[in-house]
Amino acid sequence: MKVDGKSMRTIWPTEDGEAVEIIDQTLLPHRFVICRLTTLDEAAHAISAMQVRGAPLIGATAAYGVYLALRGDASDKALDAACSALLETRPTAVNLRWAVDEMHSHIAPLAVEEREAAAYARATEICDEDVAICRDIGINGLPLIVEAAKSKPESTPVNILTHCNAGWLAAVDWGTALAPIYAAHNEGIIVRVWVDETRPRNQGAALTAWELGQHGVAHSVIVDNAGGHLMQRGQVDMVITGTDRTTSQGDVCNKIGTYLKALAAHDNNVPFYVALPGPTIDWTMSDGIAEIPIEERNGDEVKWISGRTAENQVVAVDVTPKGSPVANPAFDVTPARLVTGLITERGVCVASYEGLAELYPEQAGQKIL
Ligand code: MRU
Repeated sequence: MKVDGKSMRTIWPTEDGEAVEIIDQTLLPHRFVICRLTTLDEAAHAISAMQVRGAPLIGATAAYGVYLALRGDASDKALDAACSALLETRPTAVNLRWAVDEMHSHIAPLAVEEREAAAYARATEICDEDVAICRDIGINGLPLIVEAAKSKPESTPVNILTHCNAGWLAAVDWGTALAPIYAAHNEGIIVRVWVDETRPRNQGAALTAWELGQHGVAHSVIVDNAGGHLMQRGQVDMVITGTDRTTSQGDVCNKIGTYLKALAAHDNNVPFYVALPGPTIDWTMSDGIAEIPIEERNGDEVKWISGRTAENQVVAVDVTPKGSPVANPAFDVTPARLVTGLITERGVCVASYEGLAELYPEQAGQKIL
């Protein structure tokens, strides 16, 4: 997608292969800074500190993290240690485990001297695959927006609410939830996106609004509590969110607050779609509420909000009374029954085991019961 009119991805290796570069997402939207990762530790830190975030990009960064680790030492011991360190960075997005497993199973059978080059090649492939997958999510989600546009008076926008950031910044390019929106915008369909600010880290206000603005897509940032009201007033035609892990029965884990949007959508007959790439499906789990590990993040994310002052200084301010305890669960689970459909790179399906199994028969066969 575009930054100041120039096409970019969120992660790329440098030409000499010495480093991997990322956009430091902790500094957006006020500063656009490219950050250089040269070691496993730097890659692991980038994931845990959320310089990169979003399930597909976490997976892609972990893949390059394995490559960076093997540059110094490609022994079995180093490979295993790198994979374990990366797996510990963030618990909820299953693409992390998928990418690490993918790297390990690809590299472990090779001779030590072949591993560094093979790790670089596989990590690059994982990124390219992610771009193709997200582009196809866009293609498959586009007809839903086209249909919605047909039921609206001419020249009025299709209003789509999204939560958190599941755009290209959360993936390598295109994004998941925003891919159909970019596809529709590129086709000339008038869309307007309601962007949930997404406390505590404000990925909506900071990241989704920034990337939609860069691509010229009309949007309005709303507070997290506004969605239900807008739905009651008929101002939301559909919701599309991303997901960090979707179980084999179609339960959807996503950024905290998604479940409340799904409840409001259900009560107001607003279609609630979830867009996801195949590697976000966790075939080993079925009951999302009981089984998905929910990341509990540092309470400072709730207490402190950062933003730009009128004098153009970026500062952090404490919004809670001194001494008030805080809690910070980062994700929640929306049960499959509240999901109208899952938009994947292989098509749109009902959020159920049968729906997913029809699209991914080869994976469904391996489901652990
Ligand atoms: O904590 P984050 O920013 O890594 O959260 C992940 C997300 O961006 C969202 O939950 C997103 O909707 C799913 S990832 C495409």
